[in-house]
Amino acid sequence: MANQSTETGRLAPPRSNETGSSGEPGKNLPRHIAIIMDGNGRWAASRGLPRTAGHKAGAETFRRIATYCKNIGVKYLTVYAFSTENWKRSETEVSAIMALLKKYLLEAVDTMERDHIRLHFFGDMTPIAPELRALARETDEITEHLSKDDFQANVCLNYGGRDEILRAARRFAADCAAGERRVEELDEALFSEYLDSAGIPDPELIIRPSGEQRLSNFLLWQCAYSEFYYTDTFWPDFDEAELDRAIAAYQSRDRRFGGVKK
Ligand code: FPP
Repeated sequence: MANQSTETGRLAPPRSNETGSSGEPGKNLPRHIAIIMDGNGRWAASRGLPRTAGHKAGAETFRRIATYCKNIGVKYLTVYAFSTENWKRSETEVSAIMALLKKYLLEAVDTMERDHIRLHFFGDMTPIAPELRALARETDEITEHLSKDDFQANVCLNYGGRDEILRAARRFAADCAAGERRVEELDEALFSEYLDSAGIPDPELIIRPSGEQRLSNFLLWQCAYSEFYYTDTFWPDFDEAELDRAIAAYQSRDRRFGGVKK
């Protein structure tokens, strides 16, 4: 299959999810890519700018990479925007990140139907400001009207992998207490339906820029068989070429899932 040209002008792998031999460009494209958007603060510091400028640049990178993922045929992009631990940052920084999310959502409610971009949130929205929460609800409603075949971006907000598992366990326990579920029927597939990622396949590829090589409480349940790609590039400098490299690295790997090559 020939490569496709994208609106960014780059040559991208074709829209294909077929499993091909490892290392062939365009074959075996990950259906779901997850990214820890790290390095915004250091990117800003290296330019003598405030940390908030790094987040602003990081939000632009998210837009570009989401568009690129959509254009090359990746079905899901999940990004870590704000963790359950990020509340410990200064009020100025927390407010700046929330303001960027609000700006993005305000634009998204007007454009997601036109652009066929579904938008979903992972995380506990309870402590999020009412206005932002209402916008997230609105984008969820629009998402419901869009086709399941459309590209979907998942934004992790007030998210922690352990917290997600705890919230799922509580919900399952509550359903048992209400007589709607029985403990004996719980298996991995059923438990997955209680997670924020219900109905979404696990990410095949998890990317962390900025030189850090940790998972930092990201998608702990879903990463069981994910491939990891690390790069020293700070998130604001992460571009389409870097994503191509991450996908090529993924495609060159032999995924065995505990013994059998799938
Ligand atoms: C990690 O870099 C980044 C964050 C905690 C915030 C990410 C948020 C955005 C990119 C903005 C909003 C997002 C969307 C989806 C519109 P860091 O601050 O920890 O960087 P450092 O490790 O260099 O200090």
